[in-house]
Order: sequence, then C-alpha cells, then structure tokens
Amino acid sequence: MMIQATFRRSVWGLLCVQSLWAGMAYAQNSTTPVVPAVLAPALNGAEIIKQESIFQSKGADVPAGYSIDRTLEEYTRGLTANFDRSLATLGTTDRWLDVGAGTGQAILDYYTENYDVEHPQGRESRGRKAKTVALSIEDRRTQAWHQTAARQNANQLQYLFGKPLRDYSLEEMGKFRLISDLLGGFSYTDNLSRYMAKVLDFLEVGGSFYGVLQDVGAEAGLNKPFYPNARFLTEILNADASSVKICAWIKRITCVRATCEFKTDWKPPIEMYHIRKECDEVKVPELVRVHYEAGTPPERRFQLKQLLREGRDQAR
Ligand SMILES: C[S@@+](CC[C@H](N)C(=O)[O-])C[C@H]1O[C@@H](n2cnc3c(N)ncnc32)[C@H](O)[C@@H]1O
Repeated sequence: MMIQATFRRSVWGLLCVQSLWAGMAYAQNSTTPVVPAVLAPALNGAEIIKQESIFQSKGADVPAGYSIDRTLEEYTRGLTANFDRSLATLGTTDRWLDVGAGTGQAILDYYTENYDVEHPQGRESRGRKAKTVALSIEDRRTQAWHQTAARQNANQLQYLFGKPLRDYSLEEMGKFRLISDLLGGFSYTDNLSRYMAKVLDFLEVGGSFYGVLQDVGAEAGLNKPFYPNARFLTEILNADASSVKICAWIKRITCVRATCEFKTDWKPPIEMYHIRKECDEVKVPELVRVHYEAGTPPERRFQLKQLLREGRDQAR
C-alpha cells in the first residue's frame, strides 16, 4: 500500500502567504513573527516556515503527501495488530488519545455502530465506549466531527489544537489507557525524546502506545533507505556518531516493554511500535536534534546525549 509520498522528494506546492502566517497561530500574541513552539529556535528558519505552512495548509494547498483523514481501518493496518484489540477492550472509564489526529476520522469511526458490529469481542465491557481525545496542531475538525460530538455526552470526544503535544501538561491532559500515533507527532516532532517522555507521562501503567515511523532502519533488517541516494527519514546516531536503530533506542526506555515490527507492504515501508508502560519510573534516553528538513513527514536526525552500549539487556 502506498502511504504519503515523502514531501522532500516531491515538488513544493504553492502555499499562500496567508496560510503560512496563520500557521504561526500559537505564537500570535506578538506583532513580529515568533518561532513556533513546535520547532526549537536553532532550526533553520526556512524549514520552520515550510513545516508550519504544511500544518496550516487548507483546501488545494494541502500537499499531496499530507494525509489528514485516515480511517480507523487504516489505523488498524498501520499499527500493530494489538492496537485493534486494545481499542476494542476499552471500557467507559478508559481514555484514548490520538496524537496527530488530522480530521479525527479514526475516532469518528470508533463511535459508529459499524464498529460494534465488527468488534463483538469487547462489546459488553465497552458499553457506551471510552472517552477520546484527538490532538492536532491545526484545527481540522469537520462537520462530521461536530455532529458526532453533539450526539455524545459532554466531553466524550474532545478535539485539542493550537500547540504540539509537548506543550500540554499532565494536569491539562490527564492519563490515558491507549495512545495512538499514525504519522502524527511521533513522525513530525523535532524533539523525539521529549515527545516520547510526554507520551509515557500521559499513559497509565498497564496502558499502551502504538506508533509508527516510515523509512527507518528496521530492528533486525539490513534494509536500505527507500529512496535511492537518500538517507533514512528518521535516524538516530549514538553519542560516538555510529548508527543506532530506532527500536534499540525505544527498548532502552526504562519501565516499558516494547516490540518493533517492520512492514514492507507499505511504500515507503514502516516500522510499527507497541510500547507498554510497566511502571512509573520512566526514563527516555535523551536525544539532541542535529537535522530537520520540512516534509510530509520531515527528514530528521537525532543524536544520543550519552553513549548507548549495544547488547545490554533492556532496562526496566
Ligand atoms: C499527516 S497528519 C496525520 C493525521 C492522521 N493521523 C491520519 O493518519 O490521517 C499529521 C498530524 O500530526 C499533527 N502533529 C504534527 N506534529 C505534532 C506534534 N508535535 N504534536 C501533536 N500533533 C502533531 C498535525 O497537526 C496533524 O494533525
């Protein structure tokens, strides 16, 4: 299956200046443009503006590779098989957060009767279904979102926008049983370790995060970058500049149990991650951004602050 074409290798669409500056929404209290919170000040200004204009693009200006309305069925194919099971067994007091939700189509699909018909296994415990939160930098709510929300109890579905995940506090967000990310913040953030620390902070002990990255060096494989003469889309370098697999970095997070699954029938291929939180003392090995080039998703390179030694048992 073909998922979004990587923007870096396609021609830039003409994005109007208006939408570009609207993109600075979360820095709007100043009269002069301010670096948006999503990108650190050290980033190249041109890349900030390009990335921001992608986030804020509307109508015909949305780049072809920026898919914002994947269905729940596409989520279940893009995330590990456990995601579907985890979602089906959520009860009424549980909460599901989708980071980088776009229009929130996956959440809308969850509230349909069709979902219950197709997922009889968890139906009894599900009752009226879990509470859901869709998170997006830009507001992509549709009429369908407003209609579905109006049919549910207050706060059953929430749509948060205006800032990236890392700018939310635990007090604002509360805890979640399930967090998903299909080519959302995990693929777009310029601070991968902070993103991961936030996700794990918002996760209950026993809860699960399901995420995915495209065009990365697989855990076991000797795969090459998808595009000729290009690097992987997301890379991690060790403190000594040698290469580290994304999966190896994830497995060094303390208090989690993680699996990584490479899927080659997506073009570019994806690596799917299931991270289960096992205790509260989570420590994510810290990364520093060394490269960020705007795109759908952006091309990113990070370096570990401290040397990660190969072959050690996963810390817990
Ligand atoms: C390509 S769309 C994917 C939408 C949806 N997951 C889908 O598959 O249709 C990327 C989404 O990620 C969001 N996003 C990017 N970086 C983010 C961050 N750091 N925190 C939260 N959301 C982010 C964007 O605002 C947008 O909603």
